[in-house]
Amino acid sequence: MKISIAKETLPAEKRVAATPETVKKLIALGAEVAVEQGAGMNASVPDETYAMAGAKILSGADIYKDADVILRVRHPSAAEIQKMKKGAVLIGLLAPYQEKEALKACAAQGVTAFSMELVPRITRAQTMDVLSSQANLAGYRAVLEAANEFGRGMPMMMTAAGTVPPAKVFIMGAGVAGLQAIATARRLGAQVSATDVRAAAKEQVQSLGATFVMVENEETKAAETAGGYAKEMSEDYKKQQAALIAETIKKQDIVITTALIPGRKAPMLVSEDMVRSMKPGSVIIDLAVEQGGNVALAKAGEIVNAGGVKIVGHINMPSRIAVDASALYARNLLSFLTPLIDKETKNLKINWEDEIVKATALTRDGQIVHPNFQGA
Ligand code: NAI
Repeated sequence: MKISIAKETLPAEKRVAATPETVKKLIALGAEVAVEQGAGMNASVPDETYAMAGAKILSGADIYKDADVILRVRHPSAAEIQKMKKGAVLIGLLAPYQEKEALKACAAQGVTAFSMELVPRITRAQTMDVLSSQANLAGYRAVLEAANEFGRGMPMMMTAAGTVPPAKVFIMGAGVAGLQAIATARRLGAQVSATDVRAAAKEQVQSLGATFVMVENEETKAAETAGGYAKEMSEDYKKQQAALIAETIKKQDIVITTALIPGRKAPMLVSEDMVRSMKPGSVIIDLAVEQGGNVALAKAGEIVNAGGVKIVGHINMPSRIAVDASALYARNLLSFLTPLIDKETKNLKINWEDEIVKATALTRDGQIVHPNFQGA
């Protein structure tokens, strides 16, 4: 079985789908591993280090040719997919809700594609949970980006020249990214508060030493799906939430928004009026900017200045911490791939009845097989 680690081709994608550690483990599973020249360059892994781990280094022209399994971070282009052999297995963050062309190209090429975003949140799949591994780092990095854009310090400092007050940080969406943002901002000494629509978030937020701010009513009791995600809230709830946020936000120095609803546009939480109610010098980081954004004025890939309030719309936050993000992502992929390999024959043996396989398989035998993407 030949496994190829291709170089990422999307702009500003610094992560890589395997590390020397996972290359060694894939070889121990009986695979021959090839890494595309320069694939790890932006994540501080030179080709020689992969070679020392036992990988063959191949050029871009050869990386897909004989590969039985292709590991990627993000979706390949249609042209790249056309270089894959029929029946090859492609595993990555394939963004099937957005990247329909790649999805169709996989089906047309007879590639079996698995999308890591769709790994179900069950106990057995925890080590494969890429959304958690990457969101955790994104939440951490978002606080550092905010601190960097902020013209003041985070902790309270009592000096001979006077006292510097602590920064007030408000985290919107207390999921994986939000909780790590809370912990990071607290470690830097900020005064932190947070909000969510899932009532379960309250205890988690408070256990990290932050204040919880939330419109609590009958609706929030059922705001969480069986998978632990948020549901879209009613218009009435949104109005009440907006009033509470408007009151809270004008007192903040830094706002970090992380609110997402799987498969849908991110909820709009911070209006233009709310942005303009903040003091000049305040910073907003919109981690949901690529899913439509939580902040009205946020622009993907830009820092917008709205009357002195900076709205940071960095895309792909995990790529800004590419070394750790690659290490965790590569381990998630290894965990996902290991049960697909037969221990005796050392070849792929996919159990199509398995819950994780069913939830993540997008294409197979020339067809789009995932129920969410029929007719894509
Ligand atoms: P996510 O990335 O889909 O959303 C981020 C956060 O935004 C969530 O906490 C969500 O409730 C919140 N949100 C959505 N709409 C909102 C709105 N209108 N206003 C305010 N907040 C809003 O979710 P994430 O971070 O991937 O996971 C959410 C939860 O899932 C975690 O906190 C955890 O409890 C659970 N989880 C379970 C796992 C497992 O069982 N293996 C693994 C990871 C997370």
